Amino acid sequence: MSAQYHQDKQQGDRSARSDADGTTRLSNLPVRSFVRREGRLTQAQQRALDELWPQFGIEYDGQPLDLHAVFQRDASTVVEIGFGNGESLAQCADDAPDTNFIGIEVHRPGVGHLLLEIERRELSNVRVMCHDAVEVLTNQLGLGTLAGLNLFFPDPWPKKRHHKRRIVQLPFLELGASRLKPGARLHVATDWENYAEHIFDKLEASPHFSNTVAGDDFNSASLARPDYRPPTKFERRGKRLGHSVWDFVYERTS
Ligand SMILES: C[S@@+](CC[C@H](N)C(=O)[O-])C[C@H]1O[C@@H](n2cnc3c(N)ncnc32)[C@H](O)[C@@H]1O
Repeated sequence: MSAQYHQDKQQGDRSARSDADGTTRLSNLPVRSFVRREGRLTQAQQRALDELWPQFGIEYDGQPLDLHAVFQRDASTVVEIGFGNGESLAQCADDAPDTNFIGIEVHRPGVGHLLLEIERRELSNVRVMCHDAVEVLTNQLGLGTLAGLNLFFPDPWPKKRHHKRRIVQLPFLELGASRLKPGARLHVATDWENYAEHIFDKLEASPHFSNTVAGDDFNSASLARPDYRPPTKFERRGKRLGHSVWDFVYERTS
């Protein structure tokens, strides 16, 4: 991964490719939802990147993925964006061996951590990408291909001047909806009240989704954590700080 990764980092990787179907170039959005912080890799994470990445990693190349070739089988595929250390993704994959999972994360220590979990749990249904998920969705995942899209505790960007960095915006929802199969679900969880309100407002404003829960404000329209979503590291930290958690599960309607 390193050659591509360092190239991305230096160039900011604003690919000029456009979707084969002419879909709007959302990867040209002016603001990204993350700031790349390299962080320190443990020796084990470095080994995972060296030894396990070739087997479980997918390099970003801007070309549509052949999911059958990637997983060597036909199965429903769920994507998780910003998996952090991948703990919760690995648990989901362990719990659902008949489903394929693609985790997308820009933080390399987290990628290394997930690779170690894949090895420890002997998972064959997970692949990992280390790149901006907006660009991956735009350029590498086909229209109507996904059985689910998970966004667990996206960066809340609490300061008002940073709200534009929040990944949940109408163009992002349009992109996500276009990659989901009709009826497939988008699951967004947050422990940040102001972001919960924002997420609810954007989901309700999107013409592509309908809530699986009846409710007319962000509290009543969200769920308690469903059993199939394992707790995440970020969530546990929020709970220690006394935060509540909101889970929004919406279906793609159009
Ligand atoms: C607040 S953390 C939550 C991590 C994990 N889901 C958890 O709950 O512990 C958000 C993560 O999303 C990642 N991220 C943010 N924007 C991203 C993007 N556009 N593509 C891929 N990863 C992204 C960040 O690197 C960060 O690790």
